[in-house]
Amino acid sequence: MTEHRSPDTHFRTSLLEENDGPGTNPTDNQTMGEIIAARFSRRGFLQGSLAATAIAVTVSPLALILADDARAAGGSAFSFDEVEAGVDDKHHVAAGYDADVLLRWGDPLFADSPAFDPTKQSAEAQERQFGYNNDYVGYIPIDGSAEHGLLVVNHEYTNPHLMFPGIVKVVEKDGKKELEVAPLSKDQVDVEMAAHGGTVVEIRKVSGKWQVVRDGKLNRRITSNTEMALSGPVAGHDRVKTSADPTGTKAIGTVNNCAGGVTPWGTYIMAEENIHGYFSGELPADHAEAANYKRLGIPEGAYEWAAHYDRFDIGKEPNEPNRFGWIVEVDVNDPTSVPRKRTAMGRFKHEGAESIVAKDGRVVFYLGDDERFDYVYKFVTAGKFNAEDRAANMDLLDDGTLYVAKFAEDGSIEWLPIVFGQGPLTAENGFASQADVLIETRRAADLLGATKMDRPEDVQPNAANGKVYLMLTNNSKRKADQVDAANPRAENAFGHIIEIVEDGGDFTAAKGKWEVLLKCGDPSVAEVGATFSTATTANGWFGMPDNCAIDAAGRLWVSTDGQGPKATGRTDGLWAVDTEGEARATSKLFFRVPIGAELCGPLFTPDDQTAFVAVQHPADGGEDWEPFGRPSYYEDLSTRWPDFKPDMPVRPSVVAITKQGGGKIAV
Ligand code: FEO
Ligand code: CA
Ligand code: CA
Repeated sequence: MTEHRSPDTHFRTSLLEENDGPGTNPTDNQTMGEIIAARFSRRGFLQGSLAATAIAVTVSPLALILADDARAAGGSAFSFDEVEAGVDDKHHVAAGYDADVLLRWGDPLFADSPAFDPTKQSAEAQERQFGYNNDYVGYIPIDGSAEHGLLVVNHEYTNPHLMFPGIVKVVEKDGKKELEVAPLSKDQVDVEMAAHGGTVVEIRKVSGKWQVVRDGKLNRRITSNTEMALSGPVAGHDRVKTSADPTGTKAIGTVNNCAGGVTPWGTYIMAEENIHGYFSGELPADHAEAANYKRLGIPEGAYEWAAHYDRFDIGKEPNEPNRFGWIVEVDVNDPTSVPRKRTAMGRFKHEGAESIVAKDGRVVFYLGDDERFDYVYKFVTAGKFNAEDRAANMDLLDDGTLYVAKFAEDGSIEWLPIVFGQGPLTAENGFASQADVLIETRRAADLLGATKMDRPEDVQPNAANGKVYLMLTNNSKRKADQVDAANPRAENAFGHIIEIVEDGGDFTAAKGKWEVLLKCGDPSVAEVGATFSTATTANGWFGMPDNCAIDAAGRLWVSTDGQGPKATGRTDGLWAVDTEGEARATSKLFFRVPIGAELCGPLFTPDDQTAFVAVQHPADGGEDWEPFGRPSYYEDLSTRWPDFKPDMPVRPSVVAITKQGGGKIAV
């Protein structure tokens, strides 16, 4: 999700004003936001690729010579022809590749799915169609195939102003454009609830192109109403009992599934991230959960679900929020299986859960808690992965140790165990059991002295080189006196990437080393302090790293969230980043998305011949960009965008990128 604003402010305020720009530093120093605003002035981005031109001409001749020298000396190890950075309403992929829309919001998934009709939406139809705002994308091979498998996709959240015709007005307030959105009806709330969750869908490559197998036996939609089990140490605890579930073992649905993972045993992981927005109401006075909920920003009341469903009103159902904020595991081999919320993996704003089998067979999951000044975690299973017997792995996630990261100034990292009874995690501090510790994971990590990070997003272990890559997307609120070695920039508008090497190359290790791989942003602006290699072109740099992937050759690809005309003069996209040798920290633009979108996924098939990417919330915020501006694309199709074609990725879409004529994406 772009920034951590609520969906409420998300559709009532322009994205461009909401972006993580100037902080609240009271000094007169020019803020990073002001520097950037001056740089990417309106003139520079009025026409698509002009942005790239505007940037290029301001780079000093010396820098260009240095960059040419670096390229001559080796430059990027990726041989594709770089895309030109810029801003427009289309997606762009490197020459020689195809970027084909595979699935869009509303596309049918089952033989009996109704066709998508935005003017006649219903929850019943949406439950049989691809959901909204695709984020995580995973691929689970069928019979080991790289050309036939299950695509698993998270549907993170909903943008009602882009979904429902006729509910939006653009108003001018203090000289700024704002969106005024009418309250949603119960039917519209039901559509939203059905558009959340996840999709499991069979796909197959035929003559070089991917197709959806609409009647696939394992196709499935998971929504905010799908019955789930609470499992692990918190299951059955008093703090998760509600009037609908007096046993504390049955949750209803999942929300805000951001990134995720596929386990080594082929199950699908959905991380529950910004859960606070779904809850409204007020806790009874002096309620025991008050501090717990405050630490997570609950209730934020961004969604209108509580108006129709009591479980989202914390005054009526005070324990319901404790049943969200977990990692959810789905057995995709059985479309009737009950997804399980794995409470041993902690409760926070889970970004994702990428995993790797350690040398001794235990499985390690890396977990980010995406909020400014929150933490990085890892979970190590107690049991070992059994490659011969899938069923033997099905409860591995109920038993293990959760750790939180402490990054020291000397480049070492310590993983602190979050275990009831150890250190400060005792009755003295209000914990009576491991269940209490897990329900309040953030407070436990606070007490342990974990390092406050600049919004931890995706964390990806790399089997090829034993390293772990951590995306820190930005943190405009970090002040100069809050800077530390692992978060080295005050008012960090563009984020950075940290590389971790666990001791002995053992992913279960309690200690390791870390270094900053890359400080992001425009390297030609000295104040930004970006550290891309000089071989990186004016198109090749990026800001706001969010998701990442490792291809089969072990190379890093980074996708971004939150760029745009004002922030960086370019839309979000997918960049190939060198991590080894002379080319380290060289980045090249491979694919970029239409204005307003963030790019999620990304995911390479095991043969490296396809990159799946998820184009999330295209058009959101675009109303502030003159050539595109519109309150809702349905209303404006006929008058403001006559060239609209149904295959344009203006609906949230999963896109399959392949090389023309076949072959690996990048060699
Ligand atoms: Fe949903 Fe942290 O992005
Ligand atoms: Ca994300
Ligand atoms: Ca990833």
